[in-house]
Amino acid sequence: MSTDISRRDLLRAAGGATFLALIPTGRLSFPFALPAAAPDPPLLFTALPYIQPGSGSALVAGAESVVIAWQTEAQSREFTVEYGPTTQYGRRATVQVVRRPGPTPADDHLNYSAALPQLDLGRSYRYRVREGTRTVVEGYFTTRKPRGTAIRFVAFGDNSYGDPGQRAVAWYAHQARPDFVMNTGDNVYESGLDSEYIRYFFPIYNADVGSPQTGAPLLRSVPFYTVLANHDVHGKDPAGHAAADFAKSPDALGYYTAMHLPMNGPIAPPQPTAAMGLTDAFRACAGERYPRMQTYSFDYGDAHFLCLDSNVYVDPTSPGWAEFIEQDLAHTDAIWKIVVYHHPAFNVGNNHYKEQQMRVLSPLFERLGVSLVLSGHEHVYQRTRPFTFVPAGPGGATAIGTGKRLVPGTFTIDTAFDGQTGTTPRGIIYVTTGAGGKELYDPGFTNAPEQWLHDEDNRVAYNAAMFTDLHSFSVIDIDGRTLHLRQVDENGKEVDRVTVTKNG
Ligand SMILES: [Fe+2]
Repeated sequence: MSTDISRRDLLRAAGGATFLALIPTGRLSFPFALPAAAPDPPLLFTALPYIQPGSGSALVAGAESVVIAWQTEAQSREFTVEYGPTTQYGRRATVQVVRRPGPTPADDHLNYSAALPQLDLGRSYRYRVREGTRTVVEGYFTTRKPRGTAIRFVAFGDNSYGDPGQRAVAWYAHQARPDFVMNTGDNVYESGLDSEYIRYFFPIYNADVGSPQTGAPLLRSVPFYTVLANHDVHGKDPAGHAAADFAKSPDALGYYTAMHLPMNGPIAPPQPTAAMGLTDAFRACAGERYPRMQTYSFDYGDAHFLCLDSNVYVDPTSPGWAEFIEQDLAHTDAIWKIVVYHHPAFNVGNNHYKEQQMRVLSPLFERLGVSLVLSGHEHVYQRTRPFTFVPAGPGGATAIGTGKRLVPGTFTIDTAFDGQTGTTPRGIIYVTTGAGGKELYDPGFTNAPEQWLHDEDNRVAYNAAMFTDLHSFSVIDIDGRTLHLRQVDENGKEVDRVTVTKNG
């Protein structure tokens, strides 16, 4: 149950490094004598140190930063974070700590973070986190790569409850050696709670033991970007609309307390992430991240990423969103502009077909030179042909709070693009990569184009590929004006491949 974190859960979350810390405490009994109380007992971690992108958006040599974060039981200890180009380290970061309420006071924990400033771009660093004289973890990370440098990232979403598919995707995503992870939302099920991150997120993506059955130690060396999705904001307001409910779950909106993402979104968003009964403790823990981290953008190599909240409380026809998007996408010199949001505008599956609200932004994206849109929500892999889209009007996009937001319109399909010999698209390619672990949708849709047609879209064949048989993730390589997209299944097998080139 989401409201009850047992000591066993915490043990599972902590990984082998802290097992000994659990022995003398709590409700367990042992058939052999133990010291009544160690003079300085090891601390219990609810999340071992993990790398986060931090607040930076633009690529600035010498001004790059990352965040190292971790979480422990609510016992204050002295931590130090050292870092540098080698294991000589040489620099020490300032450590901050805030208390995060759990489902019950006994589940409160402490969220630590250390921002590492003034780093170079595209450089590897070593770090060490110590608690007193004990070394918690020694690791490494690589900062964002500058313009003109090839990059690789992986993308997946809808991550599940630590299910086998989620663990296998984590492992093979790690095997791809990405520079970073771009998650397409639904970070944890069921409700985006911190207690769910402890059970279903950190143990899989920051696993001490890497394997297809366990997950991978991704997070301790690879930054993890993500977007807000329906399961990250779970609850209902009196009108029945989605809103995080702090009266029911004091550890709601874990996105804003566990993640440390760029902070260049609107200070006053047109529709902030919906929440009821926001607590002072949450505000203290999230700080300025709520609500600003709802939307953000960042550069990496020759790509610019714009990450949007597409939840039901968002009206994408609001002028404030269009202004922000215009400002953001018009002022980047990146070769590639990639937009990420959870609810796929052009999804041919059956479960979420009618949630088309983000379609109204497509003409703006086209005008501003977006090449690729990444989404999740539908637990499958889909790749469209390149196309341009003219909405007939706002349609259901303004109908916030509902799941029926059809936006009909006119498609102009680029039929010359096949991703093999015809690689320069006219229009945007929309990829739904939501097969990151949760139960799969749309059986029988793999390689079945007749299934992909909808009367509401006049049976226009805008989808090009679909894989619903197994969990999968995307591997995207960008090198100058060439982008390679591969889809890899939970057994490590490639199931789709496409090359996209961009004219100068
Ligand atoms: Fe979803």
